[in-house]
Amino acid sequence: ILSAYVPNPANAPLIVAHRGASGYAPENTMASFELAELMAADYIELDVRLSKDGELAVIHDVKVDRTTNGSGFVHDYAMNELRRMDAGSFYDPGYSGETISTLGEVLDRFGGRIGLLIETKDPHLYPGLEQKLAEELKRHGRLDKVVLQSFDFDSTKRMHELMPDVPVAVLIHKDKHPLSDEALDELASYASYINYNFEQLDRKLVAEIHERGRKVMAWTIRREKDMKWMKKLGVDGIITDFPA
Ligand code: G3P
Ligand code: CA
Repeated sequence: ILSAYVPNPANAPLIVAHRGASGYAPENTMASFELAELMAADYIELDVRLSKDGELAVIHDVKVDRTTNGSGFVHDYAMNELRRMDAGSFYDPGYSGETISTLGEVLDRFGGRIGLLIETKDPHLYPGLEQKLAEELKRHGRLDKVVLQSFDFDSTKRMHELMPDVPVAVLIHKDKHPLSDEALDELASYASYINYNFEQLDRKLVAEIHERGRKVMAWTIRREKDMKWMKKLGVDGIITDFPA
């Protein structure tokens, strides 16, 4: 069945597998990333935080409770302790072998094969997160199709300053970031992508972003009818749990 998936046509929105193909496999695990690649997604979206010993751990929540058999804050565990947790059974017992990976491991396995949209999570909790990310990306050399994103605009600015060659995306939720024309100008001055909550997007906003020479990816889409709606609006990327 998977061999039936073909690469996205050039003029179609990019298909971004949210936390991997997280509609079909445990989020932010190698299983969900592999599935995203098999489903011919253009990008994998993943979340990073720092472990107690300063490693880049790939996990969405501030605590390990929801997605592993452990409990407590990610930053209270060293990477080797995080690794020992079961990060698959919460989704299905058949995935009990899945673990929390480092960003380095994801880059080793997928860098250059598929795009990576890397999100810094709660960066105010992890001083040095962006620096560590810059070092990790440098260690892997020039990687095609890496985009860095965050809801935290201090973090997106820091990433842009540290890695001016790597495109940055700002994540927008209108209630948290009411966007005046001036605010949009400021974000568009350095961000390549303005990534919007899909429910708040309309033609006017897409046009305003495109007029500034920037792209827009819509998150997080889980229904086919919403994908069709986003395509009609002319977004540049669809961030979805269901890349198939
Ligand atoms: O890429 C957009 C999306 O990942 C933002 O929300 O909470 O799933 O990280 P969240
Ligand atoms: Ca995310």
